[in-house]
Amino acid sequence: MPIRHGISPQRKGPFLTDVEEIRRRARQHIENGAVTPDYQGDLETVLRVLNEALATELVCVLRYKRHHYTAKGIHSQPVAAEFLEHAQEEQRHADQIAERITQLGGEPNFNPEGLLTRSHSEYVEGETLLEMIREDLIAERVAIESYTEIIRYLGDTDPTSKRMMEEILANEEEHAEEMKTLLETIGKEERQRERRG
Ligand SMILES: [Fe+2]
Ligand SMILES: [Fe+2]
Repeated sequence: MPIRHGISPQRKGPFLTDVEEIRRRARQHIENGAVTPDYQGDLETVLRVLNEALATELVCVLRYKRHHYTAKGIHSQPVAAEFLEHAQEEQRHADQIAERITQLGGEPNFNPEGLLTRSHSEYVEGETLLEMIREDLIAERVAIESYTEIIRYLGDTDPTSKRMMEEILANEEEHAEEMKTLLETIGKEERQRERRG
């Protein structure tokens, strides 16, 4: 006889705790990995959306790496170091997302073909340090907007994916803030240098 807590069998509320039933279903669907019959998400859409987030992160890794290696000029060293740090953090985000896609029984898409189409952010190289920072700020703002959208879409249907995207979003907000500060300080310093001639 299964153990039921609090709720009568007729009224199957969302918090029904039927330990044996849950265990039985978990065993039965063991091949589905982290996706249990209680999974509320539209799996196909969730996987597609997560793969787009993965593509976004991969494009961000490539753009920050490019900027790291090509940053030149008087202010370049600390900025180049910041670019590298961001590239590493975007890589970590990509890994987290790929891991979650796999947990959900999907396949993380690392195919370079179509990467830019799947990605929400763009790959812009930029000529000067200021252009690079500006492009990175734009890309971060795009990521912030699209991740906010993804989090809203996930709602309560997939709390684990949602929590992961919220953590990543918080990190993108820090990135944007850092790029904004750099844009202001470097922009100001360059204007002063121009004035001095
Ligand atoms: Fe990221
Ligand atoms: Fe970022």
